[in-house]
Amino acid sequence: MYKSEQLAKQIRHLIENGTLKAHEKLPSLREQVQISGFSLITVMNAYQELESRGLIYAREKSGYYVSNTIVDVELARPLIVSLNSKVEINSLVFQYLKSIQGEHIVPLGSAFPSQDLVFSKKLTQIMGQIARNKKSYDAIDNLPPGNLFLRKLIAQRYCMQGIPTDADDIVITSGCMDALNLSLQAIACPGDYIVLQQNIFYGALQAAERLGLKVVTIPEHPQHGFDLEAFEHILKTYPVKVCWLMLNAHNPIGFTVNEEIKLKIAELLHQYQVHLIEDDVYEEMYFGQQKPLPMKYYDQNNLVLHCSSFSKTLGAAFRVGWVYAGKYSQHIQHLQLMSTISVNALLQNALVDFISNYHYEKHLRILRKSLQQNKLQFYRYIESHLPKGCKLHYYPGGYFLWLKLPESVSSMQVYEQLIQQNIGISPGQLFNVSEQKSQCLRLNCSFEWNEQFQQAVDTLLHSIGTFEAT
Ligand SMILES: Cc1ncc(COP(=O)(O)O)c(C=O)c1O
Repeated sequence: MYKSEQLAKQIRHLIENGTLKAHEKLPSLREQVQISGFSLITVMNAYQELESRGLIYAREKSGYYVSNTIVDVELARPLIVSLNSKVEINSLVFQYLKSIQGEHIVPLGSAFPSQDLVFSKKLTQIMGQIARNKKSYDAIDNLPPGNLFLRKLIAQRYCMQGIPTDADDIVITSGCMDALNLSLQAIACPGDYIVLQQNIFYGALQAAERLGLKVVTIPEHPQHGFDLEAFEHILKTYPVKVCWLMLNAHNPIGFTVNEEIKLKIAELLHQYQVHLIEDDVYEEMYFGQQKPLPMKYYDQNNLVLHCSSFSKTLGAAFRVGWVYAGKYSQHIQHLQLMSTISVNALLQNALVDFISNYHYEKHLRILRKSLQQNKLQFYRYIESHLPKGCKLHYYPGGYFLWLKLPESVSSMQVYEQLIQQNIGISPGQLFNVSEQKSQCLRLNCSFEWNEQFQQAVDTLLHSIGTFEAT
C-alpha cells in the first residue's frame, strides 16, 4: 500500500468512527506533515484521494473539511435493478413545470441557478457590441457544427483536462438538453435498452419516453453514488445499447463519483461495447481545487458523447450548449439540420469574445465561491431544524440538497401543500420512474439566504412535521 493510501485510510477511519465530524476542519497540509511524519507530497495525495472520494472537500484559502458522505449509507439499498418498458413521465413534468412558473413562487423547486450569480455585466456589454456589428449577423458561419472559434475554445477546455480534442469533435447545440437528445437519437432506436440511474434528471426520462426506449435503472450506491456491481449485472443481463449517466454533481442528489469508479465504468463500456451519453451540465460547479474529470477522459474507444452547456454558469436563457460528438459529428449535424437548424449566431459570437478574453474563467471563480457559500448556508439552517426521521444529503458541488423524508410522508403531498402557499419544491417522483411514491425531495440552494427563503424553509419543515404527525 502506498504511504498516501495508508494516510488516507487512517483519516477515513477517523471520519467513519466519528472522531472527525461532518464539516470539521482537517489539519492543514503542513500540520498534517508534522502530525503524521509523512512528506508534504504524500499528505497532498492522501487529501486528494479523500476529496475525489467525496469524503472531504476543500474551501478556497481555508483548507479541507469533512463531508457528510459516510452517513449516507442509508441512501439507496437494496441492490435491485429495475426494468421499465414504457416510461410515462412527460405529463407529470409538464404540469409540475407550469406550477412553479411565476415570480411569486419561491424557487426552491427550480432547476435554474440564481440569476444574481450567473448574470454577467461584462457579457451584456459584449452582447451590445456584437449586436451593433453587422458582421456578427452572418448565419452561414454559425451553421452546424457551429461557430469555429467557439468550438476551438471549447476544445481547448477539454485539452486543459488532458482530453485530446479538436474543434471538429464539437457540435454546438441549443443547450445541453438538445445535445443530449441529439446524441441519444444518433445512437438509439425505439425499443432499445437504455441504462439510467434510478434517480435522474427528468430530461433523461422524457427522452426515453419520446424515443420509446426500455429503461433499466441502477440504484445509487450508498457510499460511492454509482453501483458498479449493479451496472455490470445489467450489462450482463440486458442487450443494452446506450447509457445516460450523470457522474459529476449529480442532479437531483448531488454526489460526484470518484475517478476509480469512472475508470471501471469505462472498462465495462468497452467490454460490452455500450455507448454512454454523459450529462455533465454541472461540470463547472465543483467546490474542490480540481475539476472532476468527465467520463470522456477515460474513453479510449469513442463510446462517450459528452454533453454540456453554458446554462448553469451564464444562464439557461442563452440556450447554448455542445456535445463532444467525435465520429458522430456528421450524424448529429444531420439531425440538427432537420430540427433546430442552428444555434443563435449573435450569442455564439458573444461567447467567443467573452471566453477568449478570459472573462469566463473569472466569472466561474466568483460563481463557484458564491454557490458554495449559499449552499452551505441553506444546509446549516435546514440541518439544524430538521424534523425527526428526515435525512439531509449534502455534497460539495452543484446547488441542490436532497432531503429524505420520514417513511410515512410523501414528497408529492408536501409539494402539493406548499405550492398552495407559493413555495416550489421538486418532489422525488419527477426523477424516478420505478417508485410510485417518493420520500425524497430536491431543493435549489443557489440563492443568497434571506428572510424569504428562511420563511419558505420553515414552512416546508413545518409541513413535513405535520404530515409525520398525522
Ligand atoms: C442534469 C441536467 N441536464 C441537462 C439540463 C438541460 O440543460 P440546458 O438548459 O442547457 O438545456 C438540465 C437543466 O436543468 C439539467 O439539470
